[in-house]
Amino acid sequence: MLLITGGAGFIGSNFVLDWFSQRNEPILNLDKLTYAGNLQSLSSLEYNKNHLFIQGDIGDRTLIRSLLNEHKPRAILNFAAESHVDRSIHGPEDFILTNVNGTFHLLDEVKSYWSDLPADEKEAFRFLHVSTDEVYGSLNKYDPAFSETTAYSPNSPYSASKAASDHLVRAYHHTYGLPTLTTNCSNNYGPLQFPEKLIPLVILYALDGKSLPIYGDGQNIRDWLYVGDHCSAIRTVLDKGQTGEVYNIGGDSEKTNLDVVLTICSILDDLKPAAQPYSELITYVTDRPGHDRRYAIDAHKIESELGWKPAENFESGIKKTVDWYLTNDKWIDNVTSGAYKNWINKNYSKRENV
Ligand code: NAD
Ligand code: TYD
Repeated sequence: MLLITGGAGFIGSNFVLDWFSQRNEPILNLDKLTYAGNLQSLSSLEYNKNHLFIQGDIGDRTLIRSLLNEHKPRAILNFAAESHVDRSIHGPEDFILTNVNGTFHLLDEVKSYWSDLPADEKEAFRFLHVSTDEVYGSLNKYDPAFSETTAYSPNSPYSASKAASDHLVRAYHHTYGLPTLTTNCSNNYGPLQFPEKLIPLVILYALDGKSLPIYGDGQNIRDWLYVGDHCSAIRTVLDKGQTGEVYNIGGDSEKTNLDVVLTICSILDDLKPAAQPYSELITYVTDRPGHDRRYAIDAHKIESELGWKPAENFESGIKKTVDWYLTNDKWIDNVTSGAYKNWINKNYSKRENV
């Protein structure tokens, strides 16, 4: 079986659902269920005997040791993390605890378990660490896209904590021979994403007739990838990746934030017309401190060495995504009640219109 951490979050839950749509191999899903973890995302698996969910922390060594010894997974896929840049600015500590210390504890327990496996299982074992392009820092307009050899230059507490975890994974391969794989992916979007991130936040705010907050001048660029394509890339790396290697994953879809928001507005104008065009709700607000200007991924290595390609382009993926948010009221009501409102107040109440 596979042990997946963070499998109740946005990408992890999409990965688990995708996995069972194609394969029968069981999944042990370990998730702490922070604000970002949501078992409702996995409700269709309620009666699937191949999905075993455990609530717990990747930093809990005793729990990790007992899960490894009891279930004997052939691979670990580490999705668990604190993942939101704005939250890392307001409160970095949880990012260090989970992304750095948690990954270290997980790695160290996995190393002990792996060391005692019989030779053939040891050889076949994989530790796949899911990371981000944000570890490479910020690009100027004409800089070449990030490749696997771009020097790390993280700028936010989030990206610094992910960079630290990537270095630990690298060191556990180099020093102890642990068969690791690391993926660094660009910004994901799609169903089941918590509406603190740009795309779901803008969709839900537009439907509520609220102003759509764009940080700074709206010209920051992200390279967007549909989450289903990230899932297929991770499966490909798990199946065919060379141990000790890093694979960048991206959709070759660089867009300014303003373009993304205008695209969402125009899809909504078609699907759910309001009295005024949705773009009239756009409001420029105080920028994020240290806001990275541009991310872009060179995905040549995974495409040429492992034969992976994204199935969606931004236009097809964003339509599917808006559709999903228009038809999943129950999921949305559930995640936007309670503590969500406190976060929105904390992040947006002090931002002035600019
Ligand atoms: P998310 O915030 O939606 O989900 C994270 C999940 O991890 C949640 O279910 C949460 O409960 C769980 N978790 C947090 N701390 C934990 C702990 N200590 N122990 C166990 N579980 C814990 O994040 P996401 O967007 O699904 O991202 C998943 C991974 O992919 C992260 O490692 C992130 O850095 C990486 N990534 C994300 C993106 C993106 O655009 N979202 C892009 C590239 C890489
Ligand atoms: P986000 O979805 O938080 O992802 P990341 O910071 O990891 O790239 O933000 C994507 C981009 O959108 C980023 O440049 C910040 C910007 N942004 C806004 O302009 N307004 C918002 O309300 C949010 C949440 C993000």
